Amino acid sequence: MNIDFDLLLDQAKSASEKAYAPYSGYKVGAALLCSDGTVFTGCNVENASYSLTICAERNAVFQAVAAGQRDFLALAIYVDGEVLFPPCGACRQVLAEFNPNLHILYANRLGSILSDLDTLLPQAFTLSEI
Ligand code: THU
Repeated sequence: MNIDFDLLLDQAKSASEKAYAPYSGYKVGAALLCSDGTVFTGCNVENASYSLTICAERNAVFQAVAAGQRDFLALAIYVDGEVLFPPCGACRQVLAEFNPNLHILYANRLGSILSDLDTLLPQAFTLSEI
C-alpha cells in the first residue's frame, strides 16, 4: 500500500487538538494506519497523579486493538510546539508488539522526521523463542 504520510500527519495534528495536557503543556496526537487503510487516532491524556498519564501513541494503539485491528503499517505523531520527539520507550515497546518494522513519522510545527521502529527500538524485548 502507498502510504500517504501527509494525510496521516494531518490526522495526528487533529488528534493533538483533543489532548488533555494541563501539566506539561505538550499536546500530542498520533494517527495509526492499519493494513486495511483504517486509521485510529489518539492523544495524550494527563492526570494530576502524573504517572497515570497515557501517551498519544499508546492511546491510538489501544483504540485500534479494541476495534479488532492488529496489523499496523505506519504511525504519525505530532506535537504542537517546537520540541520534536520520537515515541517514548514505553510506546516503542507497545508498538513493537504488533509491528517491529512500523514506519514512524514524528513531527512538530517546524518539520518532521521519517524513521521506523526497527531503528528506534533495535532488539525489542520479546517472549518469542530466539
Ligand atoms: N508524550 C506522548 O504523548 N508521547 C510520547 O511519546 C512522549 C510523551 C506525552 C506524555 C505527556 O503528556 C507529555 O507528552 C510530556 O511528557
